[in-house]
Amino acid sequence: MMNLIGIAIVVLSITPLVHSSNNSFAWCYHDASCNAATWATQVAQHCAGSRQSPIDIMSKKAKYNANLTSFKFTNFDSKTALTTIMNTGRTVKVVIGSGVTVSGGGLSEAYTSHQLNLHWGNGTSVPGSEHTMDGKRYPMELHILSTKSSHKGNMTVSMADSKGFAAFGFLVQVDEKTTGKPMAWKTLTSYLSQISQKDQSVSVSGISLDELLTGVNRKRFYRYMGSLTTPTCDEAVVWTVFKEPVVVSKDLINLFASTVRIGNGTSVYMRNTYRSVQAEQGVTHSSGPMTRPTFGLFLIALALWMS
Ligand SMILES: *[C@@H]1O[C@H](CO)[C@@H](O)[C@H](O)[C@H]1NC(C)=O
Ligand SMILES: *[C@@H]1O[C@H](CO)[C@@H](O)[C@H](O)[C@H]1NC(C)=O
Ligand SMILES: *[C@@H]1O[C@H](CO)[C@@H](O)[C@H](O)[C@H]1NC(C)=O
Ligand SMILES: *[C@@H]1O[C@H](CO)[C@@H](O)[C@H](O)[C@H]1NC(C)=O
Ligand SMILES: *[C@@H]1O[C@H](CO)[C@@H](O)[C@H](O)[C@H]1NC(C)=O
Repeated sequence: MMNLIGIAIVVLSITPLVHSSNNSFAWCYHDASCNAATWATQVAQHCAGSRQSPIDIMSKKAKYNANLTSFKFTNFDSKTALTTIMNTGRTVKVVIGSGVTVSGGGLSEAYTSHQLNLHWGNGTSVPGSEHTMDGKRYPMELHILSTKSSHKGNMTVSMADSKGFAAFGFLVQVDEKTTGKPMAWKTLTSYLSQISQKDQSVSVSGISLDELLTGVNRKRFYRYMGSLTTPTCDEAVVWTVFKEPVVVSKDLINLFASTVRIGNGTSVYMRNTYRSVQAEQGVTHSSGPMTRPTFGLFLIALALWMS
């Protein structure tokens, strides 16, 4: 009986906090007064939590999870699904119009995609992905954010659900040898000069998600339960981080840190827009192969075949 009363008191005292996320905190990446080091104290309720993102994915520690079957991507090939690109003062965000959904991949139901956004460092010389892979930080990271289709786009309801969001993380690797590739990234970055200042936005046309994610085997991925990587850091995200990176030419990656600013034309460039890695709470992976067969295995196979 005392236990039940104890539980009731705990539940009653936690419930009011759920909707009191501090949106008035003017968080940032560039200044010590509001950067990620301050979030855990300014938005303690979530940002100081125990299933925070991003994390370092340790490939050898991740366990195989048979639930992580293939995804079904709907309208990722649509060239009209991406509608508007905007400078939010903290990221470059692309609005995904209606009709883009993901299901499968161990998700409990279909999720509707709403936006993609990007994280970067300071040109290709200073990497800025959010997730790191075996300690390696990549030049950039592209996120696709979706919410449970049954929540009908209601962010309050999605944030209060521990699996309300499905976030996809695609690491971006630099291609030093080419310029202007892939074509979809050339088109995407061609809009940056029109959104160099905060709150500027412009219509996008002719790019599909499939084209932006070109070259990635989307059957190979890691899964963990985490949070939004920006305040209010809600612990409501089923994370999928794909093993293979999208490969993008150096000149295109460099445009992010040298074109868009955090405010108007006299403000600093948007740079190093990532949160540091948080404590890992358990990562699983899909079937793969997640690692390339070693040369030794190849020799054994060859020997068997020859005999
Ligand atoms: C929200 O953050 C602002 C800015 O840091 C702070 O002044 C305010 O007291 C906070 N409000 C709550 C309810 O925590
Ligand atoms: C796979 O899904 C089942 C049923 O939802 C669940 O009980 C089990 O814990 C899941 N396995 C993993 C490794 O997540
Ligand atoms: C970014 O790189 C440029 C050019 O190398 C340098 O001048 C600048 O100080 C760097 N900025 C940050 C925030 O690291
Ligand atoms: C979201 O759902 C909550 C709870 O059902 C409701 O109070 C709120 O009005 C909804 N918000 C929108 C924008 O529909
Ligand atoms: C740019 O922003 C700064 C800081 O907010 C402000 O002081 C300045 O007046 C702005 N300049 C223009 C041209 O809007």
